[in-house]
Amino acid sequence: MVRINPSILAADFVNLQRDLARIPSADFVHVDVMDNHFVPNLTFGLQMVGRIQDVSSLPLDVHLMIDDVDRWAPEYAKLGAFSVTFHAEATDAPVDLARRLRSLGSRAGIALKPGTPAEPYLDDLAEFDQVLVMTVEPGFGGQGFLAETMPKLQQVRDAVDAAGVDVWLQVDGGIDLSTIAVARDAGADTFVAGSAVYGAADPDLRVSALREAALR
Ligand code: DX5
Ligand code: ZN
Repeated sequence: MVRINPSILAADFVNLQRDLARIPSADFVHVDVMDNHFVPNLTFGLQMVGRIQDVSSLPLDVHLMIDDVDRWAPEYAKLGAFSVTFHAEATDAPVDLARRLRSLGSRAGIALKPGTPAEPYLDDLAEFDQVLVMTVEPGFGGQGFLAETMPKLQQVRDAVDAAGVDVWLQVDGGIDLSTIAVARDAGADTFVAGSAVYGAADPDLRVSALREAALR
Protein backbone atom coordinates (compact mmCIF):
# COMPACT_ATOMS: atom_id res chain seq x y z
CA MET A 1 0.00 0.00 0.00
CA VAL A 2 1.45 3.32 -1.11
CA ARG A 3 -0.05 6.74 -0.50
CA ILE A 4 0.91 9.86 -2.44
CA ASN A 5 0.10 13.13 -0.69
CA PRO A 6 0.93 16.25 -2.73
CA SER A 7 1.85 19.28 -0.66
CA ILE A 8 0.05 22.46 -1.64
CA LEU A 9 2.97 24.44 -0.25
CA ALA A 10 4.24 24.21 -3.84
CA ALA A 11 0.88 25.19 -5.36
CA ASP A 12 -0.21 28.69 -6.38
CA PHE A 13 -1.67 30.21 -3.19
CA VAL A 14 -3.96 32.56 -5.11
CA ASN A 15 -5.25 29.67 -7.22
CA LEU A 16 -5.47 26.97 -4.57
CA GLN A 17 -8.88 25.69 -5.57
CA ARG A 18 -7.68 25.26 -9.14
CA ASP A 19 -4.49 23.53 -8.01
CA LEU A 20 -6.37 21.22 -5.61
CA ALA A 21 -8.37 20.01 -8.60
CA ARG A 22 -5.19 19.21 -10.54
CA ILE A 23 -4.32 16.11 -8.44
CA PRO A 24 -7.38 13.81 -8.64
CA SER A 25 -5.30 10.61 -8.40
CA ALA A 26 -3.66 11.63 -5.14
CA ASP A 27 -4.69 9.90 -1.91
CA PHE A 28 -4.68 12.95 0.37
CA VAL A 29 -3.78 16.59 0.11
CA HIS A 30 -0.93 17.59 2.44
CA VAL A 31 -1.53 20.96 4.07
CA ASP A 32 1.49 22.64 5.70
CA VAL A 33 0.60 25.04 8.52
CA MET A 34 3.58 27.19 9.61
CA ASP A 35 3.56 29.91 12.25
CA ASN A 36 6.94 31.63 11.79
CA HIS A 37 7.87 30.50 15.32
CA PHE A 38 8.23 26.73 15.22
CA VAL A 39 9.74 27.15 11.75
CA PRO A 40 11.09 30.32 10.10
CA ASN A 41 8.28 30.54 7.57
CA LEU A 42 4.60 31.43 7.54
CA THR A 43 1.78 29.90 5.54
CA PHE A 44 -1.82 29.94 6.74
CA GLY A 45 -3.99 28.93 9.67
CA LEU A 46 -7.33 27.60 10.72
CA GLN A 47 -9.55 29.84 8.59
CA MET A 48 -7.71 29.00 5.39
CA VAL A 49 -7.53 25.27 6.14
CA GLY A 50 -11.26 25.34 6.84
CA ARG A 51 -11.90 26.66 3.34
CA ILE A 52 -9.52 24.11 1.83
CA GLN A 53 -11.50 21.44 3.66
CA ASP A 54 -14.73 22.89 2.20
CA VAL A 55 -13.58 22.79 -1.43
CA SER A 56 -11.22 19.80 -1.54
CA SER A 57 -12.51 16.48 -2.84
CA LEU A 58 -9.46 14.80 -1.26
CA PRO A 59 -9.21 14.27 2.49
CA LEU A 60 -6.80 16.58 4.31
CA ASP A 61 -3.48 15.47 5.76
CA VAL A 62 -2.65 18.48 7.95
CA HIS A 63 1.00 18.96 8.98
CA LEU A 64 1.32 21.44 11.82
CA MET A 65 4.69 23.18 12.02
CA ILE A 66 3.57 25.42 14.85
CA ASP A 67 4.07 25.96 18.57
CA ASP A 68 1.25 25.51 21.04
CA VAL A 69 -0.15 22.39 19.39
CA ASP A 70 -2.01 21.45 22.57
CA ARG A 71 -4.18 24.47 21.92
CA TRP A 72 -4.39 24.42 18.12
CA ALA A 73 -4.20 20.83 16.86
CA PRO A 74 -7.69 19.92 18.17
CA GLU A 75 -9.14 22.83 16.21
CA TYR A 76 -7.93 21.26 12.95
CA ALA A 77 -9.51 17.96 13.95
CA LYS A 78 -12.78 19.77 14.70
CA LEU A 79 -12.93 21.28 11.23
CA GLY A 80 -12.86 17.78 9.75
CA ALA A 81 -9.26 17.09 8.79
CA PHE A 82 -8.77 13.39 8.07
CA SER A 83 -5.38 13.46 9.76
CA VAL A 84 -3.60 15.96 12.01
CA THR A 85 0.15 15.61 12.51
CA PHE A 86 1.96 17.69 15.13
CA HIS A 87 5.66 17.86 15.89
CA ALA A 88 6.92 15.89 18.88
CA GLU A 89 9.12 18.87 19.72
CA ALA A 90 6.05 21.13 20.15
CA THR A 91 4.34 19.37 23.07
CA ASP A 92 5.25 17.80 26.40
CA ALA A 93 2.35 15.35 26.20
CA PRO A 94 2.16 13.81 22.70
CA VAL A 95 0.11 10.80 23.79
CA ASP A 96 -2.51 12.96 25.51
CA LEU A 97 -2.76 15.14 22.41
CA ALA A 98 -3.06 12.13 20.09
CA ARG A 99 -5.89 10.75 22.24
CA ARG A 100 -7.66 14.08 22.04
CA LEU A 101 -7.33 14.19 18.24
CA ARG A 102 -8.70 10.66 17.93
CA SER A 103 -11.59 11.47 20.24
CA LEU A 104 -12.44 14.31 17.86
CA GLY A 105 -12.58 11.90 14.92
CA SER A 106 -9.23 12.63 13.32
CA ARG A 107 -6.22 10.41 12.82
CA ALA A 108 -3.27 11.45 14.96
CA GLY A 109 0.24 11.84 13.60
CA ILE A 110 3.54 12.62 15.29
CA ALA A 111 6.36 14.26 13.32
CA LEU A 112 10.08 14.06 14.00
CA LYS A 113 12.55 16.64 12.72
CA PRO A 114 15.79 15.22 11.25
CA GLY A 115 17.63 15.73 14.55
CA THR A 116 14.85 14.34 16.78
CA PRO A 117 15.35 10.72 17.87
CA ALA A 118 12.54 8.20 17.56
CA GLU A 119 13.33 6.19 20.71
CA PRO A 120 11.18 8.17 23.18
CA TYR A 121 8.06 7.44 21.09
CA LEU A 122 8.57 3.82 20.10
CA ASP A 123 6.84 2.39 23.18
CA ASP A 124 3.71 4.44 22.40
CA LEU A 125 3.27 3.64 18.71
CA ALA A 126 -0.24 2.25 19.23
CA GLU A 127 -1.32 5.74 20.32
CA PHE A 128 -0.63 7.14 16.85
CA ASP A 129 -1.98 6.54 13.36
CA GLN A 130 1.01 7.99 11.59
CA VAL A 131 4.66 8.78 12.23
CA LEU A 132 6.15 11.47 9.98
CA VAL A 133 9.90 11.20 9.62
CA MET A 134 11.00 14.54 8.18
CA THR A 135 13.49 14.11 5.36
CA VAL A 136 14.37 17.83 5.33
CA GLU A 137 14.44 20.49 8.05
CA PRO A 138 10.82 21.64 8.16
CA GLY A 139 9.99 25.10 6.90
CA PHE A 140 10.52 25.21 3.16
CA GLY A 141 9.76 23.26 0.02
CA GLY A 142 12.32 22.46 -2.64
CA GLN A 143 15.11 21.29 -0.30
CA GLY A 144 17.32 18.27 -0.88
CA PHE A 145 16.41 14.87 0.60
CA LEU A 146 18.46 14.04 3.74
CA ALA A 147 19.49 10.41 3.29
CA GLU A 148 20.91 10.38 6.83
CA THR A 149 17.31 10.21 8.13
CA MET A 150 16.86 6.72 6.63
CA PRO A 151 18.24 4.73 9.59
CA LYS A 152 15.66 6.41 11.84
CA LEU A 153 12.89 5.62 9.36
CA GLN A 154 14.00 1.99 9.27
CA GLN A 155 14.09 1.96 13.07
CA VAL A 156 10.48 3.16 13.23
CA ARG A 157 9.46 0.63 10.54
CA ASP A 158 11.03 -2.20 12.54
CA ALA A 159 9.31 -1.05 15.73
CA VAL A 160 5.92 -0.77 13.98
CA ASP A 161 6.29 -4.25 12.51
CA ALA A 162 7.49 -5.72 15.81
CA ALA A 163 4.54 -4.19 17.65
CA GLY A 164 2.11 -5.35 14.95
CA VAL A 165 0.34 -1.99 14.91
CA ASP A 166 -1.24 -0.27 11.91
CA VAL A 167 0.76 2.95 11.85
CA TRP A 168 1.45 4.72 8.58
CA LEU A 169 5.03 5.86 8.02
CA GLN A 170 5.19 9.16 6.21
CA VAL A 171 8.18 10.96 4.72
CA ASP A 172 8.16 14.65 3.81
CA GLY A 173 10.82 16.70 2.07
CA GLY A 174 12.83 16.20 -1.09
CA ILE A 175 10.69 13.29 -2.29
CA ASP A 176 10.97 12.89 -6.07
CA LEU A 177 11.05 10.10 -8.67
CA SER A 178 14.39 8.79 -7.40
CA THR A 179 14.36 9.45 -3.63
CA ILE A 180 10.89 7.93 -3.23
CA ALA A 181 12.38 4.44 -3.74
CA VAL A 182 15.06 5.13 -1.15
CA ALA A 183 12.41 6.07 1.42
CA ARG A 184 10.24 3.09 0.40
CA ASP A 185 13.18 0.74 0.92
CA ALA A 186 13.66 2.16 4.44
CA GLY A 187 10.01 1.50 5.29
CA ALA A 188 7.91 4.49 4.26
CA ASP A 189 4.40 3.89 2.87
CA THR A 190 3.09 7.46 2.70
CA PHE A 191 4.91 10.05 0.61
CA VAL A 192 4.54 13.82 0.64
CA ALA A 193 5.74 15.61 -2.47
CA GLY A 194 5.49 19.34 -3.07
CA SER A 195 7.78 20.61 -5.78
CA ALA A 196 7.97 17.18 -7.47
CA VAL A 197 4.20 17.32 -8.07
CA TYR A 198 3.42 20.99 -8.60
CA GLY A 199 6.68 21.64 -10.46
CA ALA A 200 5.59 19.13 -13.11
CA ALA A 201 3.78 20.21 -16.26
CA ASP A 202 1.04 17.71 -15.44
CA PRO A 203 0.81 17.31 -11.64
CA ASP A 204 -1.60 14.37 -11.78
CA LEU A 205 0.63 12.46 -14.19
CA ARG A 206 3.48 13.05 -11.76
CA VAL A 207 1.38 11.64 -8.90
CA SER A 208 0.96 8.45 -10.95
CA ALA A 209 4.65 8.35 -11.81
CA LEU A 210 5.57 8.73 -8.13
CA ARG A 211 3.19 5.93 -7.22
CA GLU A 212 4.74 3.66 -9.85
CA ALA A 213 8.24 4.54 -8.66
CA ALA A 214 7.24 3.64 -5.08
CA LEU A 215 5.71 0.33 -6.15
CA ARG A 216 8.53 -0.70 -8.48
C1 DX5 B 1 8.40 21.36 4.42
C2 DX5 B 1 7.00 20.86 4.29
C3 DX5 B 1 6.81 19.98 3.13
C4 DX5 B 1 7.11 20.63 1.80
C5 DX5 B 1 7.82 19.60 0.99
O1 DX5 B 1 8.66 21.80 5.69
O2 DX5 B 1 6.61 20.13 5.45
O3 DX5 B 1 5.52 19.38 3.11
O4 DX5 B 1 5.98 21.06 1.09
O5 DX5 B 1 8.24 20.16 -0.19
P1 DX5 B 1 9.16 19.39 -1.23
O6 DX5 B 1 8.44 18.14 -1.64
O7 DX5 B 1 9.34 20.37 -2.33
O8 DX5 B 1 10.46 19.07 -0.51
ZN1 ZN C 1 4.77 18.96 5.29
